Amino acid sequence: MNLPVRPRRNRRSESIRALVRETTLTAADLIYPLFVQEGGDNTPIDSMPGCTRWCLDGLLREAGAAHALGVPAVVLFPKVPDALKTRAAEEAWNPEGLVPRAVRALKAAHPTLTILTDVALDPYNADGHDGLVAADGRVLNDETVDALCRQALCQARAGADIVAPSDMMDGRVAALRAALDAEGFTEVGILSYTAKYASAFYGPFRGALDSAPKSGDKKTYQMDPANAREAVREALLDAAEGADMLMVKPAGAYLDIIARLRDAVTLPIAAYQVSGEYLMIKSAAAAGWLDEEKVVMESLTAIKRAGADMILTYFAREVAARLQAAVKSNQ
Ligand code: PBG
Repeated sequence: MNLPVRPRRNRRSESIRALVRETTLTAADLIYPLFVQEGGDNTPIDSMPGCTRWCLDGLLREAGAAHALGVPAVVLFPKVPDALKTRAAEEAWNPEGLVPRAVRALKAAHPTLTILTDVALDPYNADGHDGLVAADGRVLNDETVDALCRQALCQARAGADIVAPSDMMDGRVAALRAALDAEGFTEVGILSYTAKYASAFYGPFRGALDSAPKSGDKKTYQMDPANAREAVREALLDAAEGADMLMVKPAGAYLDIIARLRDAVTLPIAAYQVSGEYLMIKSAAAAGWLDEEKVVMESLTAIKRAGADMILTYFAREVAARLQAAVKSNQ
């Protein structure tokens, strides 16, 4: 054939492929979500095989191990004892609560690790919703934003570097910024869950924390999976309200949203490979149907290629370990 243009020339060998590679995943791209619980036990999570709810000691070890492999940040999710869950979710701003204790311990043990905290009421709320629930079942916006400010301040006082509101209430980024600044926390960043969809992919996570809504669903605050322009609208609002970073969640089924936000704003973009995405890979691999290592790398590379600067993933520690081993074997 007379073919002057042969794209395969650039794929001829691993070293040529390395030269022309457009996207490279590194441990520095990863944020490791970690579950924490009261007491002295580390408990395997039934709904998320391979994940653990850590006691404080276990949390320090796991976070330290990931950090030593180059993972720059963790985000914490608490399992709050049922007895502490109330309709007003007051435990969310208890300075002696599980999250502030965990943040203080992590900061002391690993000063260079960036600590993100989740801002939302669902682990603390007797109703299992991210916001406060009125008698008629509506999730209240403005009252919730006040509660979120208290929660974020409690986390900032404990030493959180970045607060990450995952609640999807309107106006919370501006309110959090103002509350943090008023107390002098001008350096505490806000990673806003900007485009968080009402997704069935969160099921295993709710099992891990026993945080599923007691009634109804989250569709009055989380976004409709059918919508993309609305994500741009949320992104422009969050940027104007002072967010430092934006997030798309879930990641794998929403790569188009990541790409659209990448074009719409200049802020860094995070994407969350959520529990259901994790579980689909884990369970298919456990059945011998997929090659876990390869599928994990491909899925994370695709998320980065779509435009994510950072990825929250339950695979963070093992991916970082694998990347380090790959570097060593090339030396
Ligand atoms: C709640 C929250 C959820 C997740 C992170 N924060 C669940 C939800 O919105 O119901 C899900 C994460 C995952 O599925 O891995 N604020």
